[in-house]
Amino acid sequence: MSIKAILVGLGGRAKSWFDTAKENSEVEFVGFVEPFKPNQERAVQQWGIAKAQIHPKLSDALAAEKADCVLDVTPPAAHEAIALEAFKAGLHVLGEKPLSDSRPSAKRMVAAAKAAKRRHMITQNYRFGATPRTAARLVKSGIVGKPGSVDIAFFMSWADAPGSHYVEKPYMFLTDMGIHHFDMIRYVMGAEVLAAQGLSWNYPWGWHKGDASHVIVFDCKGGLKAVHRGIGCTLGYRTSWNGEWRIEGPEGTLTWERDKLFFSREHRTPERKRQEIPLDPQPLGGQSAILAEFLAAIKENRAPECSSEDNLKSLDMVFAALESIKLHREVKTAELDKLTGGNGKAPKAAKSSKPKSKPARKKK
Ligand SMILES: NC(=O)c1ccc[n+]([C@@H]2O[C@H](COP(=O)([O-])OP(=O)(O)OC[C@H]3O[C@@H](n4cnc5c(N)ncnc54)[C@H](O)[C@@H]3O)[C@@H](O)[C@H]2O)c1
Repeated sequence: MSIKAILVGLGGRAKSWFDTAKENSEVEFVGFVEPFKPNQERAVQQWGIAKAQIHPKLSDALAAEKADCVLDVTPPAAHEAIALEAFKAGLHVLGEKPLSDSRPSAKRMVAAAKAAKRRHMITQNYRFGATPRTAARLVKSGIVGKPGSVDIAFFMSWADAPGSHYVEKPYMFLTDMGIHHFDMIRYVMGAEVLAAQGLSWNYPWGWHKGDASHVIVFDCKGGLKAVHRGIGCTLGYRTSWNGEWRIEGPEGTLTWERDKLFFSREHRTPERKRQEIPLDPQPLGGQSAILAEFLAAIKENRAPECSSEDNLKSLDMVFAALESIKLHREVKTAELDKLTGGNGKAPKAAKSSKPKSKPARKKK
């Protein structure tokens, strides 16, 4: 029996979901939602979608067709309204990351999914890749002993297209891209994050209006430190999208070097060692694996991996880092309810003495 889905948002990311779902015989798109005419037309002309199947609003699509789930590929600010409407209509939701750009909104969505007893999964596709999957297994097996730190360096020429929310809105490199890496920190290290301390800035040649470079140090339960260093507007050598990782422990070091894994032990040992560790084969690529997990969770009536409830913990890393950057101090995740407006109230603007970073010169 196929699962009937409505694809909401026909922008840049949606095409890859359209193609991924087409390869899965269990999914059938019964409707599409897109308010922006040029994107409607592109979907008709380039993706081959029938014009009659595209609706300007989710309510129109819901009225036109019976569906089981929504695949939400809209910008973060639209996620809550779409999820709440879908849950109200009894549909499950597979929502693009980040869950939301507001913590109270994210919490309302999690509560609504629970109340409606619907599956709500967030598309943290990075963690489904072979490198994080293998690294998580190795860390768990104790290859480096009890890890003391994980250090991630990420240098990318990120989101270089004028006009998009990625370049127009503040802190997008941290909130939109960082969430992938922060979620992987939790997944690979089994980390429970307690606090964040962060600093962000922009370069004069950058193309993002918001800060697109940062250093963040996360304090985790058990003493683990997770350090994330990112530059989103590099003009030179780039890391892989996963970044370069270095996991330090008393038995040695696990590194990801352009997505290859190496274990090394070169000091205080009779036998110096540096060996590449083959990646565990994965049956499916990131997006296909997510879709398969979402469908399995619906059929088995269980919470999926990356449920929105679990994803709140990854999102809390983003919000703790963001509040720390704004307040110039360490921020504990336990403070976030107070700092971000709790559950359902309007977010309180964080006070900052820091002068706003200069808007970067726009690319011509
Ligand atoms: N997982 C990943 O690796 C990955 C990669 C890229 C983007 N994304 C995420 O996908 C989401 C969409 O990103 P994008 O790059 O496609 O953005 P986009 O701006 O290119 O596309 C968004 C589309 O949603 C439409 N839209 C806006 N509000 C809507 C509403 N209320 N109902 C229906 N449609 C609406 C817009 O008109 C637009 O066509 C974001 O949350 C982004 O972070 C994830």
